[in-house]
Amino acid sequence: MLNMGGPSTVAETHDFLKNLFMDGDLIPLPMQSMLAPLIARRRTPQIEKQYDAIGGGSPILRYTRLQGERMAALLDELHPETAPHKAYVAFRYARPLTDETAREMRADGVKRAVAFTQYPQYSCSTTGSSLNELFRRGKAGEINDVQWSVIDRWGTHPGFVEAVAQNVERALAKFPEATRQETVLLFSAHSLPMSVVNRGDPYILEVSASVAAVMERLKHSNPYRLVWQSQVGPSAWMGMQTGEALKGLARLGRKQVVLIPIAFTSDHIETLYELDLEYAKEAREHGIEVHRAESLNDSPVFIRALADIAAAHLKDVTTGQAGPTSIQMALRCPGCTNATCGQQKAWFARGGR
Ligand code: FES
Repeated sequence: MLNMGGPSTVAETHDFLKNLFMDGDLIPLPMQSMLAPLIARRRTPQIEKQYDAIGGGSPILRYTRLQGERMAALLDELHPETAPHKAYVAFRYARPLTDETAREMRADGVKRAVAFTQYPQYSCSTTGSSLNELFRRGKAGEINDVQWSVIDRWGTHPGFVEAVAQNVERALAKFPEATRQETVLLFSAHSLPMSVVNRGDPYILEVSASVAAVMERLKHSNPYRLVWQSQVGPSAWMGMQTGEALKGLARLGRKQVVLIPIAFTSDHIETLYELDLEYAKEAREHGIEVHRAESLNDSPVFIRALADIAAAHLKDVTTGQAGPTSIQMALRCPGCTNATCGQQKAWFARGGR
């Protein structure tokens, strides 16, 4: 289960930030190995305060483990041909990092593995970065003799869409029935630098497809927008920004909003701090009543969706109806100049050989 991860304790914040700024697939910096530690050190105190404010760390590891354990148990029933199944977590920036997970898999004698991204929508900055890291570890011989296949995206899977839609409905139900229909559904996803968007990254398209699928399931019961959060630094990022959108809706006289995280599968700092403690608070000051749709966390509908996605993948790959990677994964961004992307895709297409 691949994801970015987050510091489980406040003390892990610095290492998390350092790993994040060291990742050239996410943030390409000149003299990365020198600059990254400096930026991480400078930003640590402020981010530590944010983790403090959400209870002393990110719950992403706890939720990912819980989702993984329950998914694996379901998978034993749904696809007994490949049982027993075991879920491992490999985070890109926090523990357990890929090398730690590789050691654990080696000790367990794993021979067959699925790299299952926990980002529903594909971006080369997120899933692509995790796959590049896995590829590097594989090439370095840290994960030997494992036959790999990849689940690289699933942003319109009906189970995922259903789980999000149910959480939206629960949030909507908090508004009085008489005015419920006027509530704006504000879908929020992590933004991307325009340099990434403009090299042909598929993320914006895929997040939009998730939103369209959720709205279809909700029978377009409410007006909605997709907006983007968590931009950092002075360069241009995909907009409109979530905070600005809330202020704009207040200016237009809107009084009710449901905020919906659409690109995260569990709570972490972007939901618990940024959405709940920053944006929602600010919107309330502007006279808007805001409720946030819950993150997927321990949703049984969502965990069943994960198991269904994995079972269908295992069936297709085992019966030869699909290769180790999807057709879409083989295509590099038209503007990609990162040689590792090409090598990684070819390596996984050969089953990690
Ligand atoms: Fe998208 Fe390399 S940046 S494939």
